Amino acid sequence: MALHPAIAAGKVAVITGGASGIGLAAAKRFAGLGMKVCLADVSDRLDAARAEVAALSSEVIAVRTDVSRMDEVERLRDAAYDAFGAVHVLMNNAGIGAGGGAFADHDGWRRVMEVNLWGVINGVHAFTQAMIDQGTDGAIVNTGSKQGITCPPGNTAYNVTKAGIKVLTEGLQHELRNTPGCRVTAHLLVPGFTFTGITQGNRAEKPPGAWTADQVVDYAMDRMGAGDFYIICPDNDVSTELDRKRIRWAADDIVNNRPPLSRWHPDYKDAFEAFRLD
Ligand SMILES: NC(=O)c1ccc[n+]([C@@H]2O[C@H](COP(=O)([O-])OP(=O)(O)OC[C@H]3O[C@@H](n4cnc5c(N)ncnc54)[C@H](O)[C@@H]3O)[C@@H](O)[C@H]2O)c1
Repeated sequence: MALHPAIAAGKVAVITGGASGIGLAAAKRFAGLGMKVCLADVSDRLDAARAEVAALSSEVIAVRTDVSRMDEVERLRDAAYDAFGAVHVLMNNAGIGAGGGAFADHDGWRRVMEVNLWGVINGVHAFTQAMIDQGTDGAIVNTGSKQGITCPPGNTAYNVTKAGIKVLTEGLQHELRNTPGCRVTAHLLVPGFTFTGITQGNRAEKPPGAWTADQVVDYAMDRMGAGDFYIICPDNDVSTELDRKRIRWAADDIVNNRPPLSRWHPDYKDAFEAFRLD
């Protein structure tokens, strides 16, 4: 399977949330391909992550960065360009699971919006023009979630951040493809249930239904290589076919004037089940 042209030996990847989970797995994959890697994270694990990645590539830097702060993301961009002279892949991937219900935990709402949504907005604003101006192939990968597409009840704040990332990334790709001479593409990475820091809790073992972060990275590499914008990862419980049905059902809430989130409405339980099995 061909890789996206920005993913190749000698090219540069910047990864936020790179100290753990999907970000760290991507960093190791890029390093293994001979890329130069810049890890960004707030975590105390950042130095250990840099050492892990450095075992695979001689050119790795780590820049402590809180993505919710534009000044820190601009400093990250400057550090990457100072070290490597270019950025070919940007993964706006840092995220937290905080937040709450529609009218709960105002502080949690603010924090999850600042990290998950503003973190990605900051990354897009800080890097995109510079990556276009380089004139090389580039890729901006923003990590969303199925929770921003089908929006299950529970953590509405998190869902809002991920819905925002979807809309931002769609708009970004539209602008990139309409920018003359631009060789940068945007991609929405939507992991399924993945065993990482965010989902681990007290579990030592990966639950059978979850994918590993490496599986997500494998899938993303293949789909980017195929030129896909929407990279909707299945997991061991949820197939691509089931994801498509859930997404279609959610969109049909509007088209068919059903109540919102009807998938979780008792009056529509049987109808969804019939649709799912159809
Ligand atoms: N794991 C899943 O099942 C799953 C599913 C859908 C989407 N996602 C998304 O995948 C992305 C990666 O998460 P993960 O699953 O690898 O979890 P993870 O917790 O292992 O990794 C997230 C990383 O982001 C870092 N981070 C948190 N706040 C930050 C900040 N303000 N600035 C910089 N870094 C910060 C954390 O320190 C951590 O290293 C997130 O955006 C998450 O929402 C995960």
